[in-house]
Amino acid sequence: MQRSLVASLALLGSVSAAYVWPSTQDPIDDLLYLQSGYIRFGSLSDQVSSCGFGAGSPGIQKSAEWVRTAFHDAATHDAAAGTGGVDGSIQYELERPENLGAALNHTLADISSSVNVHSSAADLLSLALVIAVARCGDLEVPLRLGRKDATEAGIKGVPEAHTDLETTRNRFQIAGFNEADMITLVACGHTLGGVHSVDHPEIVTGTVDPANVARFDNTTDKFDTKVVTEYLDNSSRNPLLRNTNDTLNSDKRVFAADGNVTMNKLADATYYKAQCESVFTRMLDLVPSDVTLSEPLQPADIRPYITKYQLSSNGSVELAGRIRIRTSPDSGRVATDLKVSLLPTDRNGQSIQEITTTAATAKGGDSFGYLKERFNWFEFSKVLPATTGLSGFNIKLTVPSSGLSTTYDNAGAAGGFALNPDITFQQPQSCVSFDSATNKGTLTLTTAISKKALASGATPQVRLVQRIDQPRNFIPKLEQQVIQMTPAGKETAEYVYYRATGTVGRNGLQTTFDVEVGESKLLFQETTALVGTTCGAL
Ligand code: HEM
Ligand SMILES: *[C@@H]1O[C@H](CO)[C@@H](O)[C@H](O)[C@H]1NC(C)=O
Ligand SMILES: *[C@@H]1O[C@H](CO)[C@@H](O)[C@H](O)[C@H]1NC(C)=O
Ligand SMILES: *[C@@H]1O[C@H](CO)[C@@H](O)[C@H](O)[C@H]1NC(C)=O
Ligand SMILES: *[C@@H]1O[C@H](CO)[C@@H](O)[C@H](O)[C@H]1NC(C)=O
Ligand SMILES: *[C@@H]1O[C@H](CO)[C@@H](O)[C@H](O)[C@H]1NC(C)=O
Ligand SMILES: *[C@@H]1O[C@H](CO)[C@@H](O)[C@H](O)[C@H]1NC(C)=O
Repeated sequence: MQRSLVASLALLGSVSAAYVWPSTQDPIDDLLYLQSGYIRFGSLSDQVSSCGFGAGSPGIQKSAEWVRTAFHDAATHDAAAGTGGVDGSIQYELERPENLGAALNHTLADISSSVNVHSSAADLLSLALVIAVARCGDLEVPLRLGRKDATEAGIKGVPEAHTDLETTRNRFQIAGFNEADMITLVACGHTLGGVHSVDHPEIVTGTVDPANVARFDNTTDKFDTKVVTEYLDNSSRNPLLRNTNDTLNSDKRVFAADGNVTMNKLADATYYKAQCESVFTRMLDLVPSDVTLSEPLQPADIRPYITKYQLSSNGSVELAGRIRIRTSPDSGRVATDLKVSLLPTDRNGQSIQEITTTAATAKGGDSFGYLKERFNWFEFSKVLPATTGLSGFNIKLTVPSSGLSTTYDNAGAAGGFALNPDITFQQPQSCVSFDSATNKGTLTLTTAISKKALASGATPQVRLVQRIDQPRNFIPKLEQQVIQMTPAGKETAEYVYYRATGTVGRNGLQTTFDVEVGESKLLFQETTALVGTTCGAL
């Protein structure tokens, strides 16, 4: 009895944490899980296409830069005060000697275009570390989300090569790490990359040149124990151990801080990997006390992607998109033995005819890139009479070989995978142009609003996210601008077209917006696909 009660409670717990579409975590889910394949969001992960990748710049290793940047943001956490940590404050701290070098600048530039109202710079810095160490050594670091970005610099105190052991130990202690954690963190960080002569001519011997980098270990492009074993067997050429000026030998002091007890344990590869996963997880979870982190991100099991939901020129409703089905080895699913369909409901919530899908086949029809995760795609396209409309759908999976089917209702959310039957974004009649003379962009956003929604008397409006460049910073400040929509001069029996025009800066063309008609909303629409297009006729 006891046992089954516990089991069913555990089940309830896992059900309540299940993925609900749409999620504010969707953009980060895309960047982490869809690195390669048929549908891919590789803008971030392409920068670590291999562990040693350096985007063609001599002496640069992107994966190492990302790990170092996350550490430099995290390192000034104060656990007792509940301040600092992974809060993106590093963007305001680049001119400090403790943050010397191009690594931090590069990393912020790498994540910059992915920052949006749902994905903070701090979450993206965490994501970057997770992607990097998975690429370099198959590390699995759970990624919690929900970090908020600081709006100004935090305290100083990231240890430097000349920092004495007591000060270093104290800094880690304040952040919440004991001596063994400190040794482990440094031994896990310094398995990638090295010291750059251009930043530290006092540490690196030879010419001052971007390509002259003194590597921490012999396998700079592998997340492995070499940094530990080379230290222990005295074959290391780690520049923070071998400097003739002992003041600059911070790794030597840190590694020997407990008489090599921790380093001897870390020489075991299995133990090293598990410990690195553990300390990296704890490091990313150092956040100010006003942040509540989510449960670790799990890939959505079943997720729809709507590519088209709009009125056609004759007034009918067009719906197209694809369903992503998780087919990773532990999912129990076989991609070739799956049929997927949508069970839609009309604007009144009544079931209407099933919409079938076709398995994508181009480029293998699947997406992958993070550890063992894999996904397959099932595509659909349907035109419905506007009188019927659409308020959402459930998703049915059938396994032809067994005949078994399961219906997914978006974890019980109201309306299943709900669509707004009152607002459509009219992408073909929308466009984004850029005028190089004024250095400004113009967004023309067209929507169709149902007469039913307009009957409430509310004026349709666009809530546009402005991406404002900040001086000497790589991360834009996001500001919301409300723009009233006006009738565009076309209506159908059910809908009226509305339009809004917005002006944005040169780096603000690819942004997001919401459409609001009173309480009725169409959230997080992206302008990326509109850039450089012209607006079609209504
Ligand atoms: C006592 C603490 C630490 C000190 C004094 C220290 C010092 C340094 C120095 C001087 C560099 C060379 C920077 C350059 O020339 O670009 C460096 C690089 C690096 N550090 Fe640390 N570090 C410490 C802890 C950590 C920790 C805890 C991590 C990660 C968890 C880490 C990750 C890295 C990485 C990945 C690089 C290579 C960056 C690249 O190749 O671009 N460090 N560190
Ligand atoms: C790695 O070690 C080998 C053998 O000792 C040596 O020949 C090689 O130069 C080293 N490579 C690096 C990158 O340190
Ligand atoms: C360790 O290596 C260094 C540099 O190669 C050498 O000077 C030193 O004598 C070695 N120490 C021992 C104990 O072998
Ligand atoms: C050793 O390095 C420290 C820190 O950079 C510096 O203050 C000191 O002058 C150096 N000592 C020698 C002998 O170069
Ligand atoms: C720790 O290991 C290093 C490298 O092998 C060695 O030089 C040092 O003497 C050791 N320290 C202790 C306390 O054993
Ligand atoms: C309306 O337009 C859509 C898409 O262009 C087309 O598929 C559909 O057949 C048209 N319906 C009618 C009734 O003409
Ligand atoms: C990094 O960016 C900061 C702020 O814009 C700048 O002051 C610094 O010179 C940059 N560092 C490098 C190495 O480019």
